[in-house]
Amino acid sequence: MKKRLMGILVFMLLLTACSPSVGLLAPPLPTPPRPASAGEPNTLRYLASQRGFLIGAAVDADALQSDPAYADTLAREYNVVVPENVMKFSNIHPSPDIYDFSAADALVDFAQANGMLVRGHTLVWYAEDPDWVNSGNFTKDQLEQILHDHIATVVGRYKGRVFAWDVVNEAIDDNGQLRDSVWLRGIGPEYIDLAFQWAHEADPNALLFYNDYNGEGLGGKSDAIYNLVKGLHERGAPIGGVGLQMHVTLKNHPSMDDLRANIQRLARLGLVVHITEMDVRLQQPADDQALNAQAQIYKDVVQTCLAEERACQALLTWGFTDKYSWIPNFYGGFGGALPFDQSLDPKAAYNAIKAVLSGN
Ligand code: XIL
Repeated sequence: MKKRLMGILVFMLLLTACSPSVGLLAPPLPTPPRPASAGEPNTLRYLASQRGFLIGAAVDADALQSDPAYADTLAREYNVVVPENVMKFSNIHPSPDIYDFSAADALVDFAQANGMLVRGHTLVWYAEDPDWVNSGNFTKDQLEQILHDHIATVVGRYKGRVFAWDVVNEAIDDNGQLRDSVWLRGIGPEYIDLAFQWAHEADPNALLFYNDYNGEGLGGKSDAIYNLVKGLHERGAPIGGVGLQMHVTLKNHPSMDDLRANIQRLARLGLVVHITEMDVRLQQPADDQALNAQAQIYKDVVQTCLAEERACQALLTWGFTDKYSWIPNFYGGFGGALPFDQSLDPKAAYNAIKAVLSGN
């Protein structure tokens, strides 16, 4: 009888060990870096820091300079920042021989001064390439040279100060095919592998991400992203993670089961996940019911991420206050997508995130 019990016990131990989310067969994942400061009690930042989780927001570089309440709220509540625009190609590298680091430097300095981490966004994208790149009629060799110099220069400048980079952004279209871009046309699909390689050469310690939207749950696009990153990984490209953007609405968002399954399958490849750009846009005007439904989605996503905490190591929203958000400009009739309102007061969404982080 004792023997039998022992047998069952050993069998169960083996099962646990082999289970994809805990066990021996799961590849090792890097642990998230620690921000230099945990922040003040009763903030998202503090609660996240207590459990080694990263909570962040995209930053509007102009608001950071002009709006002290914005800067204060950001530093109080978050331990990670990502520049919303100022590290994008056309902003940081506006002419062939000119790099403009001023706004990005100010943001990185702000993060350092406040003990926060920085995600870099983004090195290669189909959008917001400057005209000089798009209409230069460059040869394959020339474009490779341009991309190499761009990545080496930008990543090199922030070496050791940007812990994670969105190396390639949105390279897959809505049909699951490689998206048309000056890089795909001019260099071919290998531009993706090359970008990861060059970013790694410029900062071997940075965690390198593929970042995209509408691939958070399961489905065609998510499969295409999975296959792309699996291929990269198998070919030895230095990819460390996948960014799930999470720009969603009350009606259109992944199911939490699908999100969790997606995080798990990426983790089985040895890749970590960051939720990189979450917002939940609401048809305007929004009533309390809509705001509560929005809070529930934030809550569910944070809960799902924390349920896979080993793999899902960060959650960033795309902005944090409705005072500065890309949504009204890009989605007519929508707004109110973020955890703080226009007056920088916390919304139901903020309280919901806080409740999950404190274990409630
Ligand atoms: C958006 C910014 O928020 C806008 O201010 C800008 O005009 C366009 O880009 N996915 C991304 C982000 O990866 O870079 C985009 O940011 C939003 C969608």
